[in-house]
Amino acid sequence: MVADRLLLPCPISQREREAGSRCVVSMAANTITIQDPRNPHVRRTFTFDYAYWSHSGFVRNRDGLFAAEEPGGRYADQGSVFNDLGQGILENALQGYNATLLAYGQTGSGKSYSMVGYGPNKGLVPTLCERLFQAVRANQDSCQCQVFFSMLEIYNEQVIDLLSRGGRSLGGLRVREDQLRGFYVEGLRRVPCDSATRVEQLMEQGTRTRTTAATHMNANSSRSHMLIIAQLKQIFSKENITKQSNINLVDLAGSERQRSSGLEADRLKEGTAINVSLTTLGNVISSLADAALGKKAVHIPYRDSVLTKLLQSALGGNSRTVMIATLSPSDICYEESLSTLRYAERAKRIQNKAVVNESPTERLVKELKAENAKLVLRLSRLGQEGRKTEEETKELRRLLTHNEMQIKAIQTLWEQHLQEALKDWEMQYATITQERRMMQMHPYMLNINEDPQLSGVVKLFIQEGDWDVGLSDLAHIGTSRAIPIKGLGIQERHAVFTNEDRRVSVTPVAGAKVMVNGLPITYRTELQHLDRLILGSSSTYLFIGFPCERGADDWSRYDYDYFQSELAAAEGIHIPTLCEDQSQASGEPSVESSQTDPSLLAVFYDYIKLIPMVTEANQMSQELSKGVEFKLEIKNLAMSDCRGRDLEKDIAVRVTSLENKQVWMWSKAKFINRKFLMEEVYHQQKQQQQQAESALGEGQGSGSKRLVLARDRDPFWDPLEPLHLGSAHLWLQSLAFRIPLEEQVEVLGPEGTEEAILQAQLLPCSPMGLPLGEEDILIDPTELLGKRLDFQLFLEQCCGLRWLKEAKNRGVQIGLRVYDCPQSFYTPAVWHNANPLLEHRVHFSAMRTSQDLLNYLQSSALVLELWGLQEGCADMVSSLEGLRLTPEGSFIIDKASAPDPSMLECPASVSDLRSSLRALHQDMEQLRSANAALRKENSSLREQLNRGPGPEGGRGRVERHGSLRPSCDAELARALKVFYHSMTSLRAQLQRLRRHRPSEEADLLGLRLFVDEQSRLLRDFGEQLELSVTALKQDVATIVRRKRERSGIWS
Ligand SMILES: Nc1ncnc2c1ncn2[C@@H]1O[C@H](COP(=O)(O)OP(=O)(O)O)[C@@H](O)[C@H]1O
Ligand SMILES: [Mg+2]
Repeated sequence: MVADRLLLPCPISQREREAGSRCVVSMAANTITIQDPRNPHVRRTFTFDYAYWSHSGFVRNRDGLFAAEEPGGRYADQGSVFNDLGQGILENALQGYNATLLAYGQTGSGKSYSMVGYGPNKGLVPTLCERLFQAVRANQDSCQCQVFFSMLEIYNEQVIDLLSRGGRSLGGLRVREDQLRGFYVEGLRRVPCDSATRVEQLMEQGTRTRTTAATHMNANSSRSHMLIIAQLKQIFSKENITKQSNINLVDLAGSERQRSSGLEADRLKEGTAINVSLTTLGNVISSLADAALGKKAVHIPYRDSVLTKLLQSALGGNSRTVMIATLSPSDICYEESLSTLRYAERAKRIQNKAVVNESPTERLVKELKAENAKLVLRLSRLGQEGRKTEEETKELRRLLTHNEMQIKAIQTLWEQHLQEALKDWEMQYATITQERRMMQMHPYMLNINEDPQLSGVVKLFIQEGDWDVGLSDLAHIGTSRAIPIKGLGIQERHAVFTNEDRRVSVTPVAGAKVMVNGLPITYRTELQHLDRLILGSSSTYLFIGFPCERGADDWSRYDYDYFQSELAAAEGIHIPTLCEDQSQASGEPSVESSQTDPSLLAVFYDYIKLIPMVTEANQMSQELSKGVEFKLEIKNLAMSDCRGRDLEKDIAVRVTSLENKQVWMWSKAKFINRKFLMEEVYHQQKQQQQQAESALGEGQGSGSKRLVLARDRDPFWDPLEPLHLGSAHLWLQSLAFRIPLEEQVEVLGPEGTEEAILQAQLLPCSPMGLPLGEEDILIDPTELLGKRLDFQLFLEQCCGLRWLKEAKNRGVQIGLRVYDCPQSFYTPAVWHNANPLLEHRVHFSAMRTSQDLLNYLQSSALVLELWGLQEGCADMVSSLEGLRLTPEGSFIIDKASAPDPSMLECPASVSDLRSSLRALHQDMEQLRSANAALRKENSSLREQLNRGPGPEGGRGRVERHGSLRPSCDAELARALKVFYHSMTSLRAQLQRLRRHRPSEEADLLGLRLFVDEQSRLLRDFGEQLELSVTALKQDVATIVRRKRERSGIWS
C-alpha cells in the first residue's frame, strides 16, 4: 500500500500579516511552488498526492467555523481534509489495517490545527473518533468493538503518560520490545472508550497534563511529540474472526532548525536530545526512501530513538501511513518551508505494505479449555492410579486454576475496564462542570502558553478574600487561602491576590517578579479585565474580570507573542523602531519602512521568542549561583559593509560574568543549545537538592548553593574569545585620485554606540613607501588603469575606548580586510589603555590597477574592526597564508595583477635584486616627475579641446569615449584639487590650534594673552575655511553653468 502525503499551507498569522510579510508559496492543483524572497526568480516546485490551501479565501462563520469565502473557493476547511485523508484511515482501520497519521512542520504552521483542531474547527483526531464510533454503532449487531485510547508525550527521549492518574515517574516510562508486539511502552494507561465525547474529554485531560507539566519552561511543547494511540479490536462472533488495528496519530515536535546552527559547532554537544526523535525520524525516512529507490543493504535506524521505535511498524512495514506537512507561507519562514517541502518529498518515496491483522477469535479460549480438560483427565487418572505424587497434583491444580483465571479474565476484562473507566469519567466530569460554574461566577487567571494548543487550559479562580499564589500550597496567614502554581522564578509565596468590593488587585511579595502589561510592579496594583500578568520568569496569565465586565471581546489576540511584544516594547524594541533605525543608518528616508524587510521581521520574531528564554536562563543562573548574566542584543543594527550597505541583522546574546566582567557573545543557535543544557543541569540539581532535603528532614532548606560543574560540561561557561566591538569606515575614494587622507573615524558598536575614535591615514606612496607629492594627484582616476598603485594605511591612535573604560584589564586590536585579500590583517594587541597608540603601518600594492579595483576604490571603504581582548584570551593573528608580497615587501591586493611569479619565487637573489630595483625605482621616480609635467600639459590641452568645439561636439565626444569617460569632470577635479590644497593648509592650522595650550604656570595675564592668541588663530582659521568653501562653491557654480550652457538642455 502506498503511503499518502499532503501539504497544508496554513494562514499567515494575524501578526505576521500586520507586519507586512509576504506570501511566497503558491499552489496549483497538487503542485506547490515556493519562491525565494531574496531571489524572486529562484522557484522550486513540488508535487504531492494532495495539497490544501488554507491561507486565504476564507471567512469565520457565526459558529466560529472557518469556511470558504464563496462556494467552490480554493480554501480547504477541516471537513474536506478529513474527507480525503481521515476517511481513508478510518476505513483502513475498520478493515484491520494499522494506520498512522503524522503531522510535520515548523512550530505555528498548523500541525495541531490539522491533527487536533481549535474549538469548533475540529481536527482529524476528534472527527476520526466521532466517525469511528458511528461505524461501531452501525455495525454492533454483527461485531463487538473495543476501543482503547492512550495519549503520551515524548520529550527529551522520555515517555510521559498524559493520561496517567498517578504522578509522573522519574525518567519517564520504559519502552520495551516484545517478539510479537514489537516495541511498546510499558505501563502506559489504555483507557477503554465507547463514545467520541469520552475521547474528547481524555484529550482535554491529556492537554491539561501537558500544560501543567513539571518542567515549566518555555518552548517545551514545541520540542515534544504528542502521540495518540487508538487500539481498535473488532470481534466478529459469527465468522469467528478478530480484527485488530492500531491507529497512531502523531503531532510531531516543531521541525525548525536554528538557522545558523550548521555554521558553527558549539563546544558542548548539542543539547537537543529533545529532537533525537525528530532527527532519527528524518534518517529513517531517508533510508526508507533510499530502499524504495532500490538501494541495497540500507540500514534503517529505527532503534536510535523512542519515537521511531514506537512507529517502526507504521513507518517501514505494516501500516497505512499518511504524512501531513504543514507550511507557513510567509517570506520570513522561507527557509523552514523549503526544508519541510524537501522532507515531505523524501517521505513520498516510501512504499508500505500493510496487511490485515486478523486472527480466529476464541482460539486462545478454545485452546485453554482443551488444555483444562486434559489436565482434569490427568488429575483423575492420578487419583485412580493411586500414585499420589503430591507435588505433581499440586502443580497440575495450579495450572488448572491459572488457566481458568485466564479464560475468565479474557471474558470479563473488557467489561471491567469499561466500568472502571466510567467511574473515572464521572469524577472528571464533575470537575469540569464545577469549573464551568466557577467561570460564570468569579474572576480568574487564564494560562497563556507559547503553544496556542496549551493556552487557556489552566484557570486560577480568585474568589472573595486574600489568596496566596506561589509554590506553596499552604496559606500564609490565617485568613488567606493558597493557589499553588509552579514555574521558574516562582517563590514559595509569590504574590497575594485580593478580591474585595468587586475589585481584584495583586501585591507582589518582597523579591518576587510580577509584571503587569509589560511593566514590573512592586506595589499593590488593581487589575483590569484582560490585563496581562507575568509571574516569575515567564509564567504568563491573562486576567479575566468579573462576568459583568467581560462583554463579547475576543481574547485570542492576547496570545503569548502579544505578551512578549509588550516586553520588547518596554525595552524600546518594536517593529517600527527597527525600521527607523535601519533607514537612518542607511540614510534613506523612512517612507519605505512600511514594507518591512523580511530579515528584519525575522529578527523581531526571534527577539520576542528569545525574551522568555533569556529571562529563564538568568533565573537559572541566579538559582544555581553561576554568576553570569544574559542579555539580548541585536547584532548589526547600525552596521554596514564596505559599500555602506546594511549588514544583515541578527540576534546575539551577551553573556557577562558579574564577578570579573568577562564578556562573551553567543549566537542565537548557541544560546538555544545552551539553554537546553542549562535546563538539564537545573533539573538534575533540583532533584538532587530535593533528595538531599528529604534525607535531612524538613526545615533544613539548603538555599542556593553554587553549582560546581567541570568546565567541559558547564553550559554557562566558555573559553574567552576576542569580541567584535564595532567598526569604522575609512572611505577609499581619495586613493583613486592619489590624494592622501587623514581621518578621525568613529568606531560604532552593533547598536550604534560610539566605541572609540580612531585616527587613521591613507597615504598613496611610491613602491618603496615614499609619500607621493601633490604633483602626483590625479585629475582623472582612469589614468590609474593598468598602472601600479601603492598606498599605506597608517593607524595612529585609538581614543576613548569604551571597552577599556568599563574594565582596565582588557586590550584591543584593529582588524581589516582589503579588496580581494582572503585574509584579515590585525594590528598587534595593545593593553590596559583607553587611548592606546597603535602606530601601525601596512603597505599595499596593486601591480596593475584593474577597472574592478578602481570601482572598489571609488565606492568602498576599508572597514576597520575593533576587537576587544580579555585577559586569558588569545590575540587575533593575521594569517599571511595565501598572501603575496612584492619584492619590496608590501602586500599585493589585486589578484589579477600578480607580478611575474618567477620573481617572487627566487628568494636567494632577493637582496641583489633589491639593490638593482632600488636604482630602477630612482629612475622611475625621475620619469614620474617628467611624466607629471607632461600630464599637466596634456590636461590643459584637453581642456582647450573641451572648450573648443560647440555643445554638439562636446556631447559627441562623451558618447565616443564611452566607459573611458572620467567619472569626474576634469574641471571639477581641478576645483577639488585647489580645494584640497587649501584644506591641507587648513588641517595644519587646525593641528596647531589643537596643540596650542597655555603653559602650565601661566598667570592671569598669560592666560589672557593665550586667549587673545587663540581667538586670533580661530578667526584666521574661520576666514580661511570660509574662503576655501566660497572658492569651491564659485568654481562648482561656474562649472555647472558652463555645463548647462554647453548642453543647452537645462536652460
Ligand atoms: N488551516 C488553518 N486555518 C486557520 N487557522 C490555522 C490553520 N492552521 C493553523 N492555524 C492557526 O495558527 C496557529 C498555530 O497553529 P498550530 O496548529 O498550533 O501550530 P503547530 O501545532 O504547528 O505549532 C493557531 O492559532 C491556529 O489556530
Ligand atoms: Mg502544536
